[in-house]
Amino acid sequence: MKLTGRLAAAAALIPEGRSFADIGTDHGYIPVYMCHTGKTPRAVAADIGAGPLQAARTHIVGAGLQEKITCRLGNGLTCLTPGEVEGGVICGMGGRLMTEILRASPHVWRRFSFLVLQPMWYSGTVRRFLYEAGWHIEAETLVTEEHRLYEVMRAVPGRKAMLPFWLWDIGPVNWRQQDALLARRLTLVIARKKKILNGLLQSRKDQAERIRVLQKELAQLEARKCRLL
Ligand SMILES: C[S@@+](CC[C@H](N)C(=O)[O-])C[C@H]1O[C@@H](n2cnc3c(N)ncnc32)[C@H](O)[C@@H]1O
Repeated sequence: MKLTGRLAAAAALIPEGRSFADIGTDHGYIPVYMCHTGKTPRAVAADIGAGPLQAARTHIVGAGLQEKITCRLGNGLTCLTPGEVEGGVICGMGGRLMTEILRASPHVWRRFSFLVLQPMWYSGTVRRFLYEAGWHIEAETLVTEEHRLYEVMRAVPGRKAMLPFWLWDIGPVNWRQQDALLARRLTLVIARKKKILNGLLQSRKDQAERIRVLQKELAQLEARKCRLL
């Protein structure tokens, strides 16, 4: 089997030879691909929904991988025993839900040696959470699939200097590598922040502080974008 686009980019960031749990697995494509290709010895495919988990189970049995992949029904990391897998993969969810899942089970993910995360939105919330928790991002990819831009990151334990705020939504490795899709990501982030700023400027409440912070962020992002072009 072959993965494309977003899921292929996520799978490429999973360290080979390490077991992991795929949280919110749905169809189970990532664990099936990783075990089928021999890149991973064993995995847990977990989902909060019985329907998605059944889809994963069907796929796993179809690939003859039921000895290597265990299915678990549960909310986030609560279905895992601390130490039973070496890492976690969470893809295709919003960044706020991802951080909620991590916040709810620190005793589980604190024992991981890696996390591969692909937030659909609010990636800045995820990066900030990781750095505040004493982890850092060691690999990142920007990828397009059907015209949409996706971000994927691999985080590992170890405290590094806190990211400057303008990098939360961009990603330190994306910036350092000068990823080919970086200008597109910056354009998106700037457009989104401008929209929020316009909303604040029209608000009847006192938003002076938020407006000041957002204007400062926008100025930083515009300056970085100019350097890229
Ligand atoms: C959009 S799908 C993403 C599937 C796959 N990870 C991907 O990236 O293609 C999101 C999946 O996460 C599951 N999910 C949502 N909240 C969850 C939670 N708190 N714990 C576990 N799974 C969850 C949903 O049931 C759904 O199957």
